[in-house]
Amino acid sequence: MAQLEVIRGDITRLTVDAIVNAANTSLLGGGGVDGAIHRAAGKELLRACQALGGCETGSARATPGFNLPAKWVFHAVGPVWNGGSRHEDELLAGCYRRSMELAREHQAKSIAFPAISTGVYRFPRQRAAEIAVRTVREHLPASGLDQVIFCCFDEETAGIYDAILTARP
Ligand code: APR
Repeated sequence: MAQLEVIRGDITRLTVDAIVNAANTSLLGGGGVDGAIHRAAGKELLRACQALGGCETGSARATPGFNLPAKWVFHAVGPVWNGGSRHEDELLAGCYRRSMELAREHQAKSIAFPAISTGVYRFPRQRAAEIAVRTVREHLPASGLDQVIFCCFDEETAGIYDAILTARP
């Protein structure tokens, strides 16, 4: 049975088959985890992203990991939080669902997610974490994954995920 785990750290350092990026629709990089992933992967990642021609909000596109320890990067585009009445929940769930499908398509056995949309895009952390865990659990059997890591960059976010996972391991 695949295991879900929470770690606190920098997703660019994880030796997993795939890491998920919190990107924007242009896929041309940015700040936050997007900036960290592009810096660590190197310039070839930007060229691969340019060739993709963008990604819609609520979905994700795959590139190789280049200089990253991860084989693949799944660039997910989360919603900007606008109070919750513009389908933000469904769009965020779509990022996790599409990443789980990409894991299947790429025969990934391990994947790490950042807390998509909870930084610059201001999605409430607790609400985002509940959507993340629920959506990952829902799509886990079909994904073929053995390991899912929620890679949190700060203690508060790690605590939120820990509480959710220990409530129902
Ligand atoms: N490893 C893991 N998590 C990280 C890292 C890292 N190296 N750096 C930042 N994070 C965390 C943030 O602390 C936050 O919890 O990733 C989460 C997502 O925050 P952002 O990176 O700001 O992403 P998001 O809120 O989805 O906003 C996306 O920001 O960087 C731009 O191009 C990006 O326009 C897009 C927008």
